[in-house]
Amino acid sequence: MCGIVGYLGARNPKDVILGGLKKLEYRGYDSAGVAILHDGHTKRVRALGKLKALEDKLAHEPFNGHTGIGHTRWATHGVPSEINAHPHQVNGVSIVHNGIIENFQDIRRDLIQSGSTIESQTDSELIAHLISDQVQQTQDLRTAVERVLGKLRGAYAVLATWEQSPDEIVAFKEGPPLVIGHGRDENFVASDVQALIAYTQKFIYLEDQEVAVIKKDSIQIFSETGKPVDRDFVELNWDAEMVEKQGFPYFMLKEIFEQPRTLAVSLELLTNKERQEIITPTEYDDKLKTIFAGATDLRIVACGTSFYAATYGKYLFERLARLPTEVDIASEFRYREPVFNKKTVVMVISQSGETADTLAALRLVRQNGLEVISICNVKNSTIARESSLSIPMNCGPEIGVASTKAFTATLLNLLLFASQVAKVRETLSRAAETELMAALMALPAQVDLVLTHDKYFENAARGFHQFKGFLFMGRGVSYPIALEGALKLKELAYLHAEGYAAGEMKHGPLALIDERMAVVMIAPSDELYEKTVSNLEEARARGAKVIALGTGENTRLRDVSDAYLAIPASHWALNPILATIPIQLLAYHMAHSFGYDVDQPRNLAKSVTVE
Ligand code: G6P
Repeated sequence: MCGIVGYLGARNPKDVILGGLKKLEYRGYDSAGVAILHDGHTKRVRALGKLKALEDKLAHEPFNGHTGIGHTRWATHGVPSEINAHPHQVNGVSIVHNGIIENFQDIRRDLIQSGSTIESQTDSELIAHLISDQVQQTQDLRTAVERVLGKLRGAYAVLATWEQSPDEIVAFKEGPPLVIGHGRDENFVASDVQALIAYTQKFIYLEDQEVAVIKKDSIQIFSETGKPVDRDFVELNWDAEMVEKQGFPYFMLKEIFEQPRTLAVSLELLTNKERQEIITPTEYDDKLKTIFAGATDLRIVACGTSFYAATYGKYLFERLARLPTEVDIASEFRYREPVFNKKTVVMVISQSGETADTLAALRLVRQNGLEVISICNVKNSTIARESSLSIPMNCGPEIGVASTKAFTATLLNLLLFASQVAKVRETLSRAAETELMAALMALPAQVDLVLTHDKYFENAARGFHQFKGFLFMGRGVSYPIALEGALKLKELAYLHAEGYAAGEMKHGPLALIDERMAVVMIAPSDELYEKTVSNLEEARARGAKVIALGTGENTRLRDVSDAYLAIPASHWALNPILATIPIQLLAYHMAHSFGYDVDQPRNLAKSVTVE
């Protein structure tokens, strides 16, 4: 969390940095600041609150200079306040930091003992002190940084500047990402390419323990041992329009409405319409066969929405590929001393490809000698780079903090991947594949159709405003969608919501039902439909108000619910993707009508790069 941007070049650094921070605000938004070097001085401006507050302050500040750094914060150590906002400055050294310094108490004590005055409650300020102490001795910013690296424990991505060397930014990291953007006579550095694609498409990803010295006309990278590193640029070809709202009031709404297109992209790449076949790209066909040849079981590890997608994956890999599958929350998995056998295959899922716990889980698995498959949206993210095989979600940048299009893209890619594995394991018959293909081909248009009922979902949301709690329920592949539906409502509308397997209702949740608790029952027409309807009846019999989600014009469900949300008839494995659309819109409209910031829910950040 936290977003950082640095710029060196002839443009006004204030504009580049603010523009970049806007694109990174999804990473944190409780305070922000910039520091720009000019004429041997650094001008620093910081503001509490969202970036807008900083922007307003900066509007009246003339800025010169060609080198600057900026930060948007998600508080870890120290409350959100101006004094805790970055950049932190000590004797001409300015730094911005994303991460957590775990040994900050020891460093703080030592600094105080040696006479330093610490202004803020943050761990980050200490980095500025350490660098400042060293640079007085070395008179060289890079050497000072190299001396400090050994003293820091934890996770950090840092940009440092020094007044006496105003034409350089020194960047270093351990954990959170840093990407350097290359332009003509100008260079950039940021937490995420999204901040920079308006200016360049050429990037270098900094690796852990490397130090980069960035000037307007050069980028030098040094390894942990101080040796120069040669690194090729990665070309992205992302369109800057992709990170604009394109007329929608919120990124989240735009991303919800993008889903027919994002799903179509994966289908285009991984299916052959003429042959009615799900295909495996040649780049990883052999690898997939090798990895799954003697596989005994699969473990899927992820956090948040990606974990709920993983839960859907469990049903698919077991049912389609007959592969025993378990799912784990990454923060639990990594500390549980998990047991692997040599034939266990591990998959991690991460939209950002940077989530600290998921990355740590991946590294743990790799240390145990196993290969790891990942599904990531951000190509070249750390998780994608460190996996043996990485499957792209192909849904373009997702900016709304609450995941939407990346969730459905993950579901679809899990389905296509599970089908590819099923074909290798010879558990997917030709007839079953043809049936699935027919449903897959109809999917983007069906999602589009569901989206045309947005006004109807908005009305349904209005009818449930007064409820204080929501129980989302589903069975089989609808169960992960119940979990995701509850999460969306928590994240966006700040309502208490829980997701349950509907069969578990009698074992506790039924006791919660009263006139203030609503039930959202996900009951598409599949083989568990009758059982799900029985669960709905049980809830109603105890006075629950019910939103039912079902297939087509289902009068039975309409009769027993207070609001009925319809999805078109599809394959059992695709119902979850279709069912996701109304629950996303339900949460969106609920939050929007309460006046909440849908793109930036309180206390959350999109990319969780600290534990
Ligand atoms: C954060 C986001 C969630 C996301 C989770 C995992 O909590 O707010 O929307 O699902 O991180 O992120 P990942 O990038 O690993 O999928």
